[in-house]
Amino acid sequence: MRVDRLERRTPQQATFDPATVPTRSSRTHRIAGQLSDLMSQRNSENDVERERPSHGEGHHGVVQEHVNAHFDSTASYWDAVYRDGDVQGLIYRMRQAVVLDNVVAAKLSQGAPVLEIGCGAGHLTVALAERGLRVDAVDASQAMVEVTASRMAQAGLTERVTLATADIHALPFEADSFDLVVAVGVIPWLHSPGDAVREMARVVRPGAQIILTADNRARLTSFTDPRAILALTPLRRAWVALRRRRRALASSRLDFPKRIDELLAQAQLRPLARRTVGFGPMSFLGRPVFSEERNVQINDRLQAMADRGVPGLRWTGWHYVVRAEKA
Ligand SMILES: C[S@@+](CC[C@H](N)C(=O)[O-])C[C@H]1O[C@@H](n2cnc3c(N)ncnc32)[C@H](O)[C@@H]1O
Repeated sequence: MRVDRLERRTPQQATFDPATVPTRSSRTHRIAGQLSDLMSQRNSENDVERERPSHGEGHHGVVQEHVNAHFDSTASYWDAVYRDGDVQGLIYRMRQAVVLDNVVAAKLSQGAPVLEIGCGAGHLTVALAERGLRVDAVDASQAMVEVTASRMAQAGLTERVTLATADIHALPFEADSFDLVVAVGVIPWLHSPGDAVREMARVVRPGAQIILTADNRARLTSFTDPRAILALTPLRRAWVALRRRRRALASSRLDFPKRIDELLAQAQLRPLARRTVGFGPMSFLGRPVFSEERNVQINDRLQAMADRGVPGLRWTGWHYVVRAEKA
């Protein structure tokens, strides 16, 4: 197994200049102006900033630095969560199982070159290598790459995997290099998801497929908990976006499946399979309502109904999983 630190083609990182921090009154006016800008955005589905050129590359670099710091410090969580018996761990395992079903549906030959972006703690990486695929696994977080490296070594699969740090927004690979490109749980964390989807489309070969997941804004819990409903209002979204823009915090974003489909279409990717997965945990005002055991039962029951196509449930799972083909 090679572990490379590939040169990233990301924009240079920006630093904060205390001299540019505004005074309180100018800040108030500017916040009001920015709020009104944000609220009048044509497509306001997402809380994070849209891909607006006015942001400049430096800001994106700072946002990514925060995301990397977040995942560097939570690498052990992403290692352990897949073993948890609670509904959260169950939903991550279900999401991975759905992704693997899609890998099987892509009908790859043994040794086919696959790129996994945002490999995290390497759970999917192991599963891909075990299926005889040749995997390039990359992640923007160095700590995540190291956890994946030790997982591959433990599994005795180092020969089939090349690991590196890399940013999905600017992948260090030639065009048309892979028979499959996968990104699980990455899109929610990106400052420019459209660029990322275009990069996935660039490096997959024509006629081959990509698989990605997004956190579903239309998830059932968005409509059952008043606190989550509030989070969907334009004012709340604008406020979250403003905080993010000013402090470059690492936080994840929810997207409607329709928005993800638009990004795929813009990258000339045609969806072949789409579904949502995961129901729970149910909360009220952000607090759990049921025991973990009950949450697991509710998840199983609702997922079974969603899989039968029951209206109102089919598209309201936590994660949107989509497989798409490059023309
Ligand atoms: C929610 S975790 C999911 C990890 C793994 N795919 C899984 O499903 O368990 C998101 C991963 O995306 C990585 N990531 C975030 N921004 C990235 C970027 N711009 N390029 C590549 N990876 C990124 C994070 O470091 C993290 O490992």
